[in-house]
Amino acid sequence: MPALIATIPIPRDLPLPLPVPEWLLVVCLVVFFLVHILFVNLMVGGSVFVVVAEWMGLKNKRWDALAHEIAQTVTVNKSLAVVMGIGPLLCINLLYTIQWYSANALTGHAWLLIIPLVIVAFLLTYLHKYTWDTWAKGRKKTLHQAIGITAMLLFFFIPVIFLANVNLMLFPSEWEKVRGFFSSLCIGNVLPRYLHFMAASIAMTGLFLAGYFGRKNADISHLDDFTCPELRRLFYKVCAYVTLGQFALGPLVLFTLPSDGITTQVYVIIFSGAAVGLLTLWLLFGELRRDDTRIGSRYWPIAALFSIVVFGMGSGRHVYREAALAGHKAAIKNRTERYAAALADFNKNLAAAPAPAGQSAEQLFMNCAVCHAPNVKLVGPPLTEIAQIYAGNPEGIVTWAKAPGKKRPELPQMPPFNHLGEASLRKIAELMLEKGATSK
Ligand code: HEC
Repeated sequence: MPALIATIPIPRDLPLPLPVPEWLLVVCLVVFFLVHILFVNLMVGGSVFVVVAEWMGLKNKRWDALAHEIAQTVTVNKSLAVVMGIGPLLCINLLYTIQWYSANALTGHAWLLIIPLVIVAFLLTYLHKYTWDTWAKGRKKTLHQAIGITAMLLFFFIPVIFLANVNLMLFPSEWEKVRGFFSSLCIGNVLPRYLHFMAASIAMTGLFLAGYFGRKNADISHLDDFTCPELRRLFYKVCAYVTLGQFALGPLVLFTLPSDGITTQVYVIIFSGAAVGLLTLWLLFGELRRDDTRIGSRYWPIAALFSIVVFGMGSGRHVYREAALAGHKAAIKNRTERYAAALADFNKNLAAAPAPAGQSAEQLFMNCAVCHAPNVKLVGPPLTEIAQIYAGNPEGIVTWAKAPGKKRPELPQMPPFNHLGEASLRKIAELMLEKGATSK
């Protein structure tokens, strides 16, 4: 891909080994990410349900009680989302170090803003939850609602920053155009992906709450006149209709994806996922037609099928990423290898080079004299000390000077001098020994 190489930044790779095999990191990345995003979905979707139900509660108290109950789940899911987010972040750092850090650096301020935003959002969700009973009445209710809405809006915004970064890292050819976070939003297809994610959040939370209120030991006596089947039906409905909507948003994401990473494999994975999604949807609508005694009997098959769909989408995402970055990765590898070869050559030539004609030992010693004086300690030890250690062994000095070790804890590290070449170092070493032996 010569055009690619000419226009995009190709840094050298870091020549560090990975701590575990690459395939293991890939598996961890895909699996940990899905677990993480599941809880993110429940956190984002939960915050929406809380706001809507609390608002409906202004007219009918029973919705307020429901909102409070859902708010209890949001803080738990939020903690799990954060904890489970560490895994994929570490994996992506290791697997895509160069692309990932480049994207982070290009959106710099927004990227760092995640930390304070997350802290504020979390504190607000706790405040919202714990002041429910105390601020529920009178004018403070509006304040209470405003806190819930602010937390929700923050939960809406934080994923945009993440999404901007995971998206930007896929398109190195666009990096030059990026001027901060907002301009990064114009690259690739951030908006369709965001809508798809938000819809998934609502659908997943619907499914989760259908299970939460339908579980065997669910105690909803404090939820006034809600019944378990009623709640189950309500949340199933949300899940079903939003999932139906995903069949419009999904293709929108797929067809707005830049072609860089589209391969047949991506299509196969995504379409198989969508087929399973269709089956899930069919089961979901089937559930809605059941009467109250039997609604929910297909919950676990539905949840299992949903997991398969989500796993398919997660894998498709990885395959797309690999394909989109294949050219860049190959170019980096090539550049790194060329550099290593050139460096090795350079060092070999230097070491083999004869002493430059005309440079006397005294002149060559000027390379060392700034740090080594005859009998006082400058930056390095005096020649008297060196002469004691290396008496009769100039070769030892040459070896040291080519690749100095770290010996004296109180002194800094000596820089290497292998660029002077063997012959010159040998001359210097002999002079050092001579000077060291004759100075007092
Ligand atoms: C920038 C300062 C600096 C320069 C220039 C420098 N050295 Fe050193 N050298 C040191 C320091 C510092 C140490 C002590 C390092 C230690 O013990 O960890 C040292 C230690 C040594 C030692 C003692 C090693 C031992 O086994 O204890 C030798 C020999 C030596 N230098 C040779 C040279 C020669 C030859 C040159 C010039 C080609 C040179 N140094 C240039 C800073 C310098």
